[in-house]
Amino acid sequence: MKILRTIQEIEEYTKAVKASGRTIGLVPTMGALHEGHLTLMRLARQSCDVVLASVFVNPVQFGPGEDYDAYPRQFEDDCAQLATVPVDAVFHPDPVVMYPSGYATYINVESAITQKLCGAKRPGHFRGVATVVVKLMNLARADKAFFGQKDAQQVVVIHRFVADLNLPVEVVMAPISREASGLARSSRNVYLSASERTAALVLHRSLQAAQTAFSQGEKECLRLKQIVQTVLGSEPLADPDYVELYSFPELADISRVQGPALLAIAVRIGRTRLIDNIILEAEKPCC
Ligand code: PAF
Repeated sequence: MKILRTIQEIEEYTKAVKASGRTIGLVPTMGALHEGHLTLMRLARQSCDVVLASVFVNPVQFGPGEDYDAYPRQFEDDCAQLATVPVDAVFHPDPVVMYPSGYATYINVESAITQKLCGAKRPGHFRGVATVVVKLMNLARADKAFFGQKDAQQVVVIHRFVADLNLPVEVVMAPISREASGLARSSRNVYLSASERTAALVLHRSLQAAQTAFSQGEKECLRLKQIVQTVLGSEPLADPDYVELYSFPELADISRVQGPALLAIAVRIGRTRLIDNIILEAEKPCC
């Protein structure tokens, strides 16, 4: 597996791949890799000739007081995991490589889709995500880019700027990867103590309760959100940041679920903020 650290190295690598007529699948990550990331890599492996991962903790998507400094960094372990897929190359730049002195250009998706959910709670977050993902897609000369549904809003935002900027990249969203317990895999799970990890199972439980009610006929958004809040309220260590339900992928306000809808939650467990979601699919009328 090639390790690329500079702009020149990644540009030369991806230029040569494209010159040989091969396709490139990009899997952007911030490292601290887990099975969810590896699922994305394997998906890329299935449909692209070359798989290029990036491992870069992107400073511009973290706000003041967030966990940029504490974010887990374990590049050697990440490489060992990537080699098992196998991934062909990993781009692992220093922040100064991506944002050298004088850097001044940012991508701002000026739409309601960045003003709600994590966009409302983490001002500037999606500006940072959009900026780095555009840079990575360009450098990777990516034909396809792969992201997880756990960050469903991020995927919606990425679809928006890929369309708006006419980027020649197909965006692929993979289902949420969960542990057997139901906990959504996240690099931030390493922050959880044993008791917090048990408490964190309430996220999935709350979404499942809403899914069950929905399957039994409950379509009112208010009621579905109340069900989630009630289950979250049963866990003393859980402090909900938001519980929201929007149409998907538009992220428009709705009062009843009549088409695909994103039920998304952010919950603090101790000092760790976790997100999770499910997509509720209204049944299609038969015949
Ligand atoms: O989802 C993430 O890990 C990050 O937001 C991404 C897409 C790698 C951009 O830094």
